[in-house]
Amino acid sequence: ARFSPIQVLSDAKARGEPAAMISLYDAPTAELCCDAGVDCLLVGDSLGNVVLGYENFISVTMADMIRHTEAVARGVKESSRPGVPIVADLPFGSYTTVAEAARNGADLMRAGAHAVKLEGAGPATLEAVRAIIEMGAPVVGHLGFTPQSALRFSGVVQGKTGGAAEDLLRDALALQEAGCSAVVLEAVTREVAELLTKTLSVPTIGIGAGAACDGQVLVFHDLVGLSKRAPFRFVKRYAEARAILAQATRDFVEEVRSGAFPVEEHGWSMPEDELEGWRA
Ligand code: KIV
Ligand code: NA
Repeated sequence: ARFSPIQVLSDAKARGEPAAMISLYDAPTAELCCDAGVDCLLVGDSLGNVVLGYENFISVTMADMIRHTEAVARGVKESSRPGVPIVADLPFGSYTTVAEAARNGADLMRAGAHAVKLEGAGPATLEAVRAIIEMGAPVVGHLGFTPQSALRFSGVVQGKTGGAAEDLLRDALALQEAGCSAVVLEAVTREVAELLTKTLSVPTIGIGAGAACDGQVLVFHDLVGLSKRAPFRFVKRYAEARAILAQATRDFVEEVRSGAFPVEEHGWSMPEDELEGWRA
């Protein structure tokens, strides 16, 4: 028997029923997603773009990740499913040495994560993976388009050639060998994602990587339509939350200005007898 809560991902692979994962950053959203039945949560470093207003992922710090992982953990506990596992991203520059990787991984685990995620499969990253796992924390890998090294890429979609497929397979096997519990595949052609999913014994979680993956992950703000527009074609908007929130906000502003809000039901009166005495 294994004790890792992120075992839900391998269970999904074994059952052949894809796991649903959502990237999110705060307590009420975590509670909502758990109540809605999500299998696993990710506190992604997309935090930087999505809610902190940065242009890229490079600005996100460990302090940011710890604070938001703690918030998500509190939200999960408040939900109807307090056992839903949390994966937290190690941000840009936080795992360049084994010592830093272990210390920062430990900090995310203490903040409430059940596993940490990092990007790539270079020699230093594989060492970091092994060190964190040796320490006792599960690690999730991330291949394909890896936003932390976006400046190195010329295009988004990965795995378009046979050579690229071989590289991705080699990297995925290296991550599995190093002990990763799962691998996220971002913007990988469906053929290559399927090959990786069939070849690996650990689960693959796709985002823009086709339907063959063992799980799918999307950013909450993207899937509910809170983002201004879908940044990539792999996002499906299941609602137009931004339009709903914008209309509610316009209504509030307008009612304040017109005096339509607030009315009696939104406040309190002094008790009748008090009022008489006080006025007398
Ligand atoms: O940061 C993030 O949200 C992610 C997922 C999109 C995989 O890494
Ligand atoms: Na990320």
